[in-house]
Amino acid sequence: MISFFVNGKVVRTASDPATPLVWFIREELGLTGTKWGCGQGTCGCCTVMVDGGAERSCQMSLQDAASRRITTIEGIDEAHPVKVAWLRESVPECGYCQPGQIMNAIALLSLNPRPTEEEIVAAMDSNLCRCGTYNRIKRAILRASGKIK
Ligand code: FES
Ligand code: FES
Repeated sequence: MISFFVNGKVVRTASDPATPLVWFIREELGLTGTKWGCGQGTCGCCTVMVDGGAERSCQMSLQDAASRRITTIEGIDEAHPVKVAWLRESVPECGYCQPGQIMNAIALLSLNPRPTEEEIVAAMDSNLCRCGTYNRIKRAILRASGKIK
């Protein structure tokens, strides 16, 4: 039996310890905000927070998640400054990559509350968006950091 926390609640599972966390989150917990894209750690749409840092849940097994604190997009309050900034900047197009973008942005701002534009680009660079919302993502992060009012 493996146990860990998801959005503040204890989760216990007897599933195969090698199961990718993204599948468990989506299929067993029904938290479908976390998306599946490349499955190879390169697109970022499966990004969740693990103990406060951004991690790719397609690259993390249930065994790797043991005893850790996982936060998915569903665990982020609608009044969180990053979600509010995302709405103000009308960031999403199709929306598929956006949960991963938001989770990566929150992890960035928790480490670096007032990043420069260059630091934002560097931190968000590996979260891909086929709709090309990169400029709005950057503005939303600047807004959430208080650099844009
Ligand atoms: S699905 Fe995990 S990085 Fe692409
Ligand atoms: S909003 Fe469509 S892939 Fe990013």
